[in-house]
Amino acid sequence: MLFGCFREVLSVAYIVMSPVPAFVDWADGRLQVPGLKVSEKKLGQLTGIFRDQQAWSRLDPETIVYRVWWWEPVPSGTEGGLFWGLTEIQPGRVGKEYFMTRGHRHVVRNRAEFYGTITGTGKLVLMDASGRTWFEDMTPGSLHYIAGEVAHRIVNTGEVPIRVTACWPSDAGHDYEIAGGHGFNARIVEERGAPVLVSAKD
Ligand code: PA5
Ligand code: NI
Repeated sequence: MLFGCFREVLSVAYIVMSPVPAFVDWADGRLQVPGLKVSEKKLGQLTGIFRDQQAWSRLDPETIVYRVWWWEPVPSGTEGGLFWGLTEIQPGRVGKEYFMTRGHRHVVRNRAEFYGTITGTGKLVLMDASGRTWFEDMTPGSLHYIAGEVAHRIVNTGEVPIRVTACWPSDAGHDYEIAGGHGFNARIVEERGAPVLVSAKD
């Protein structure tokens, strides 16, 4: 009898406390969840990221290049957990180079990640531990598996914002010191109206 009551109290408590799921608008990737985090990167904060520093210094430092919204259902650093995020990069260029994310490796090097393109078009630039650099085309529906150790950066090569959803381990961490501060070995630039991958030394 007593145990039955206890069990009922427990199940009522479970119903009251059961977590509300997050919501994603799959048409545009927008996330709705309590405690959603957001960060914003303006041109002025992206020091040393773009190749043409003169072109960069002529642009309005208040221009928003990208925003990230993300959900941390467990504390950052939790082993075995996952985070979910959305990145929106505006269209635009600094000289010939398209607007893009800073790019990073994961602090815990063997942590992989998924990127999925929701809207817009771009290139996912990837660089492995040996410095080999390549890209994958990003179009609505493209799903990208980013292996551990591989540095990754999203480049918006289109005329509209690119929106990319991501899922990564909660203990991955972000390491922005790519190749000892020299950055990626190749960049996406506009040549004769089209995006091409060129060596970062060119
Ligand atoms: O975790 C990820 O890989 C993404 O959410 C990125 O952090 C996001 O796209 C912004 O890029 P970056 O962290 O390189 O500035
Ligand atoms: Ni990442």
